[in-house]
Amino acid sequence: MAQPWLEFLGRLHPLALHLPIGLWCGVFALEFGAALLRRPAPRGSVLTLAWLAAITGGLAAATGWLLGDEGEFTAGRLDPHRWAGVAMAGAGLATAIAAGLTSRAPFRWLLLTTMGAMAVAGHLGGNLTHGENFLWEPLQQPAKPEPTPQPGPAAPDSPPTTPPSPPAATTGPAISWYQASIRPILERTCVPCHGEEKQKAELRFDSPEAITAGGENGAVLVAGKPDDSSMLTRLLLPLDHDDHMPPPKKPQPTPEEIEALRAWIAAGAPFTGERPSGG
Ligand code: HEC
Repeated sequence: MAQPWLEFLGRLHPLALHLPIGLWCGVFALEFGAALLRRPAPRGSVLTLAWLAAITGGLAAATGWLLGDEGEFTAGRLDPHRWAGVAMAGAGLATAIAAGLTSRAPFRWLLLTTMGAMAVAGHLGGNLTHGENFLWEPLQQPAKPEPTPQPGPAAPDSPPTTPPSPPAATTGPAISWYQASIRPILERTCVPCHGEEKQKAELRFDSPEAITAGGENGAVLVAGKPDDSSMLTRLLLPLDHDDHMPPPKKPQPTPEEIEALRAWIAAGAPFTGERPSGG
């Protein structure tokens, strides 16, 4: 995205999107509340609110479209939300026009359509920013084991070269393999989205504990098993694959960096100690 001010407008999306939600709910309450109470609907208020809702809905869709261009998400993930948003804006415009008609039936059906599209768009958008299944997760079995205090390879067949490290063991004369070669890669390519500021998929790469704890779907690092570690396998997927990390258009690790990650994970992903020479 070339223009910074377009990017700025796009970032108003989280603000703009709440207005049509509130306004359409207000229109719904006025129209159907009156029907329920068998009173005439306050036509003037309904019409005004419907137009406000349609206009802010258009703004939410437009800012969202710009935000999507920033490239944080692959098309496969983004497109359903994008087009649900456009459908919501289009249906909203039709609803506002119908609110001015004498006959109530077209208006009411369009209003329900708009609210349905809004619910779908909102849900898909929530999944995008908070991770898949954000909504239902609390009602399901705990998918993620509680992060255990001691990190360490759980594989029974791995040689006992790197015992689980007590926190005090970091004082060595030399800087560790992890600090020297692995952390800089993660800092540059992963931590912008998986760190202090943003925790996409509830995953952070800014500390050994966080890396070991994994994300919303559990472990991302299986010490000694690079091919089972999604923090590596996702990097190896084709760039246009939905699960590829980092998302396209964002800084990617170089092939050498990916190789460095693989070697480190294969060696048991030690967070302390130097890289064994030769072995
Ligand atoms: C531009 C933001 C961004 C960057 C940079 C980024 N990610 Fe992600 N990551 C996401 C989003 C959004 C999700 C959730 C959607 C998904 O699962 O694809 C995610 C999910 C993941 C998951 C799945 C976690 C789980 O429990 O489901 C892994 C593993 C992952 N990222 C690894 C990485 C690695 C490794 C890097 C750096 C090489 C990286 N990511 C860089 C945005 C990013």
